[in-house]
Amino acid sequence: MDYQPAILAKDLTKRFGDFTAVDHINFNVQHGEIFGFLGPNGSGKTTTIRMLLGLMKPGEGSVEVLGLKVEKDTSKIRPRVGYMSQRFSLYNDLTVLQNLNFYGQAYGLENSLLQKRIAEALHMAGLERHENTQTRDLSGGWRQRLALGAAILHRPEVLFLDEPTAGVDPLSRRAFWDLLYKLVSTPLQPETNQASLESEMREQRGVTVFITTHYMDEAEHSHRLAFIQHGKIIASGSPIEIKTQKMPGDVLEISPSDAAGAVKVLRSAQNDGKLPLNEIVLYGSLVHVIAPDILRHEQAITVILQNSGIQPGVMTVIEPSLEDVFIACMKS
Ligand SMILES: Nc1ncnc2c1ncn2[C@@H]1O[C@H](COP(=O)(O)OP(=O)(O)OP(=O)(O)O)[C@@H](O)[C@H]1O
Ligand SMILES: [Mg+2]
Repeated sequence: MDYQPAILAKDLTKRFGDFTAVDHINFNVQHGEIFGFLGPNGSGKTTTIRMLLGLMKPGEGSVEVLGLKVEKDTSKIRPRVGYMSQRFSLYNDLTVLQNLNFYGQAYGLENSLLQKRIAEALHMAGLERHENTQTRDLSGGWRQRLALGAAILHRPEVLFLDEPTAGVDPLSRRAFWDLLYKLVSTPLQPETNQASLESEMREQRGVTVFITTHYMDEAEHSHRLAFIQHGKIIASGSPIEIKTQKMPGDVLEISPSDAAGAVKVLRSAQNDGKLPLNEIVLYGSLVHVIAPDILRHEQAITVILQNSGIQPGVMTVIEPSLEDVFIACMKS
């Protein structure tokens, strides 16, 4: 059996002058897993991906992808991985089909195999009737699906996706994730005749996905994830593990008559030491307040809101969302 993880990062570090962009991070990604990498702007996500791909040399530490050392075996790893960079450059003035042809040829695909893979990519991305559309005329969501189609033409075993759904509407993001799920659940089937044990094992599993995102709903859809802040991993595990282990209290959801006003009033009481809450977060028309044993504070919260002319509305203790945990981890 193959016990090597698909990706293994050990003490991975990158410095730019005096500034440490990635600071001794450790993680592994198992085969067939969707691993979400979350962090605010400038936290080191793209720098990490570039080191995982061998596009940037680590200052310290090491990376293995598919059991191979990235620094030493870059040329062996390249054909086995796919990359959608944060600023993936599809050619706007080419049609959908021309873009796929371009990228397919860049991966060394030719003739009937190239045509077969392009047909599969068009089918997967649902772009069959748009082959001759100029890429610039595609909506953001369709462009990202085309970009994903282009990134998997050579059937990579590991896919690195750097904010592939940034700026894409929720329905299109959902459609993109459906494609990812399909990719990880479809066993890889090498067409070459390498009857080695390794290729047989590869057939059993789907693609491994390493994806960076700012969207919490996408984080919830990852099998496992890591939060990165200032170049350090501050939490990692499955969404459930992170929620149960990293939450500094219970979450009380309040539906006040004026949510923004309620946040202001509660924060002021918190600053004055009248309410020992860990977090007060605005969620549209709702407010989440977080503290250990939160129900002890229900009465005080009600009084403080009423004294400011705000109706507290319904209050319910809820399961923390990943966003709650993320905000709590970032501030702790
Ligand atoms: N080549 C470079 N030279 C100097 N500093 C850099 C370089 N590349 C990145 N940085 C800095 O390293 C930090 C991490 O950058 P990185 O692009 O990895 O962040 P990120 O998490 O991908 O952010 P975003 O969500 O905005 O894409 C930032 O402060 C950035 O300015
Ligand atoms: Mg980035």
